[in-house]
Amino acid sequence: MLYLQRRDRSAKMTKANSRFPLLQILNNLGYYSMKRYIFLLIILMLTTLQVVAQTKNEAFVPKAVWNDTDGKPINAHGGGLLKYGGKYYWYGEYKVGETILPSWATWECYRTDVTGVSCYSSKDLLNWTFEGLALSAEKDNPESDLHPSKVIERPKVVYNKKTKKFVMWVHAESADYSKAAAGVAVSDTPTGPFKYIGSFRPNGAMSRDQTLFVDDDGTCYQFSSSEDNQTLHINRLTDDYLKPDGQYVRRFIGQSREAPAVFKYKNKYYMISSGCTGWDPNRAELAVADSIMGEWKVIGDPCTGIDADKTFYGQSTYVIPVNPKKGQFIACFDMWKKKDLADSRYIWLPIKIDRDTGDMKIPWMPKWTLKELKNK
Ligand code: DGJ
Repeated sequence: MLYLQRRDRSAKMTKANSRFPLLQILNNLGYYSMKRYIFLLIILMLTTLQVVAQTKNEAFVPKAVWNDTDGKPINAHGGGLLKYGGKYYWYGEYKVGETILPSWATWECYRTDVTGVSCYSSKDLLNWTFEGLALSAEKDNPESDLHPSKVIERPKVVYNKKTKKFVMWVHAESADYSKAAAGVAVSDTPTGPFKYIGSFRPNGAMSRDQTLFVDDDGTCYQFSSSEDNQTLHINRLTDDYLKPDGQYVRRFIGQSREAPAVFKYKNKYYMISSGCTGWDPNRAELAVADSIMGEWKVIGDPCTGIDADKTFYGQSTYVIPVNPKKGQFIACFDMWKKKDLADSRYIWLPIKIDRDTGDMKIPWMPKWTLKELKNK
């Protein structure tokens, strides 16, 4: 009788084990027990939870926490992208730790300590792998622009086909934002480590919010908020992209444009920018030019939908030319959280271009996929 009961139980176990090969192996090895079974189940549940936390991103969800492929929030603010070798690289301010408002501050110059510039890579623009810090802080050198006590913002990286170097420009600042300089770093690989060369004021002028744009002929330009953020300077760079070549223009004179993001469509140059209100949002502006140095003509606010008058609570940082010939561009904005800058989020939205009229709009979308890039 006892023998029959045991045989019955072992038959049931064999049936269960055939569904769970791991249990079969453990059973055969003589390790099986109810306690171990429960333990295994817990491990399985925890693993499943971890997998769920790291699930693939299937859509862009502006303003939501955007996790990387390790399941950690992407930390790349004021950023820019580079496409190289079939992959996208996203560089940004790596903001960790406490947000500080210095006791001497006379305005809202909230900052986090400099930790460096992060780099993420992706093939689909949705799922990003952390590649580490492309440019790291220099903790032991208080004189360095990269010392934690300073401010590093708006890193942009371009590839120089002639020198085969990756060149990064940043806004290099002092804690009180009086330095107003541009910093330059170089690397042989897109993920770094970048070697910091140093900082200067391009053509002797102040340089704060900035971006780089490489034209079809390989010439690179730096756009920067200059003259106390009142006027935008467009600085043409030397062939190695390491410094200005002396040719520059003053544009948007007295118009206080910040956060420039430049792109080219059908031989015209476009720039999205913000107004100048510290970390607080304001209305975006789109401008167009036939030649990169200008004249630039203001088109108006391209944003539409809820909170469009405040750029959806975001501020421009970059426009991704996904397929420029087909008019497929993504506008990237930062949604700053000034009292907790490390928790600042991202707002990426498709630019809707009417291919007949050239009209450009950035409509608010709470969730979207790359299919939205197909313009009419
Ligand atoms: C607005 C700029 O666009 C940001 O990059 C940052 O410099 C803040 N101002 C600081 O207030």
